[in-house]
Amino acid sequence: MVDVDDIFGGGEIFRRRELLRVGHVPELDRVVGRDDEITEMGRALGPGTRGGPPDSIVIYGKTGTGKSLVSRCTTREAQRQAQENGATLQYGYVDCSDYTTETQASRELAQQLAENIDTDHSIPRKGVGAATYRDMTWEMLNKHNVDSFVAILDEIDKLEDDELLRSLSRAKESGKASCHIGVICISNKVEYKERLDQRVHSSLQDNELIFNPYDPDQLRSILNNRREAFQEGVLENGVVPKTAALAGREHGDARKAVDMLYEAGRLAEKDGLTTVRESHIDAALTKAEVNRVKQLISGSPPHVKYILQALALLTKSRNTSTFRTSEIYEFYQRLVDREGMNSISQDRVYRLLKEQAFLGLLEANHTGGGDYEGAYLEHTLISEPEVVLNALDNPPLDTPRNE
Ligand SMILES: Nc1ncnc2c1ncn2[C@@H]1O[C@H](COP(=O)(O)OP(=O)(O)OP(=O)(O)O)[C@@H](O)[C@H]1O
Ligand SMILES: [Mg+2]
Repeated sequence: MVDVDDIFGGGEIFRRRELLRVGHVPELDRVVGRDDEITEMGRALGPGTRGGPPDSIVIYGKTGTGKSLVSRCTTREAQRQAQENGATLQYGYVDCSDYTTETQASRELAQQLAENIDTDHSIPRKGVGAATYRDMTWEMLNKHNVDSFVAILDEIDKLEDDELLRSLSRAKESGKASCHIGVICISNKVEYKERLDQRVHSSLQDNELIFNPYDPDQLRSILNNRREAFQEGVLENGVVPKTAALAGREHGDARKAVDMLYEAGRLAEKDGLTTVRESHIDAALTKAEVNRVKQLISGSPPHVKYILQALALLTKSRNTSTFRTSEIYEFYQRLVDREGMNSISQDRVYRLLKEQAFLGLLEANHTGGGDYEGAYLEHTLISEPEVVLNALDNPPLDTPRNE
C-alpha cells in the first residue's frame, strides 16, 4: 500500500520551482546580461515617462534571447517612472501568435486597457470589427487623460495584416487619440525585417535593436540568478557552469538553458537524490534531444519509423555511420517482416529518406555516379542512434549482426 504522506514528494530538491518554469517573468533588476538593450530601450521610452512621445522600437533576435522579457520589464518600469514624474504611461502587450487577426489583436489591446484603467468599460467578445475595438481604445485613453501609450506587438510576423500598426502610427495625427503613441514590434524572424520595413510607417522605425544569443558567461549569470529555485546546497558546483557552457555553445537560448536546469532537477528528484549532478544535465540534454526528434517525426508516414529504426540500429552496430539506400532498405525489410507488415518499394523508401534529410534528421550524400540515383545515395543519422531509438519508443528488436 502506498504511504499517503509520501506520494506528493518532500521537496528535497526544489524550494521555489516556479522560478524555473516558463511564464516566470523576473523583475527588471533580475534581468542580467542585457544592460545595453535595456538602456537603449529606456532611452526610446524615456520621453514617455515625462509625458512626451515615446520612440517606437523594432526588435529582432533569435528565440530565447530575452526580447519579450526585456520589452515587458522595461515598459513596466517606464510606467512606474512616469507615475513618479506625475505623468501617465499605459501599455498593452499582445502576443500576435495568440491573436493573429486584426480584430483579435485590436480587441486584446482594448481589453487590456479596460482591465488596467477603465474597469467599467466592457469590451464585447464578438460582433464588433477591428476599427470599433480601436475606437474604444482611443476613447479610454482620452477619457483617462493618458499621456503616452506603448503597444507591444510581440511575434508581429504572425499578425495577418497591417491595419493595427498603421492606425497606431496615425492615431495621434488623425486626431483620434490625444495621447502620444509608441509601438514596440518584436520578431524572431530576421528575414521578416524587409517585410516589416515595408509594412510600417517610417515613424515606427526610429530604433532598431538586435538581441544576440547569450554567451556562456551571460547564461551563467541568468542561471545563478535562479538558484533560489533549489534548496540550499542541492546544486553541485559544476552544474550551472556546465549548463551555461553547453547552452552557450549550442544556441545561446536562455529559455532552453533554464529548462535544462529544471529538467536536471526533476531527474534528480525522480532518482530520489538530494543533489543535482552534472550527469543530470547530460540526461536532461538527451531527453530534450529525444523530444526534439519525436516532434520532427510526429506526423510522418508509418514506414518512416521503420526506416529510421533500421538506420539507427545499423549505425549502432557497425563501425560506420554512413549507409547506402540499399543497405537500409534490406534491413528495413527485415524489421517490417518481423512486424508482419508489407514493405514499401525501395524507391519509395529512397524518397522518404530524402524527406527525412529535409527534416534535419539525417544527411544524404551522393557517392559516385550511376544511373539509379537512389542506389548511390548515402545516409547518415545526425542525432545519436540511441536518441532516435528512444524517440521511436525504443522497440525491443535485435540489432543486426556485423556481416
Ligand atoms: N536577461 C535575462 N535574464 C534573466 N532571464 C532571462 C533573460 N533572458 C531570457 N531569460 C529567460 O528566458 C526566457 C525566454 O526569454 P524571452 O521570452 O524574452 O525570449 P524571446 O527572445 O522573446 O524568445 P522568442 O523569440 O522565442 O519569443 C524568459 O522567460 C526568462 O525566463
Ligand atoms: Mg518572445
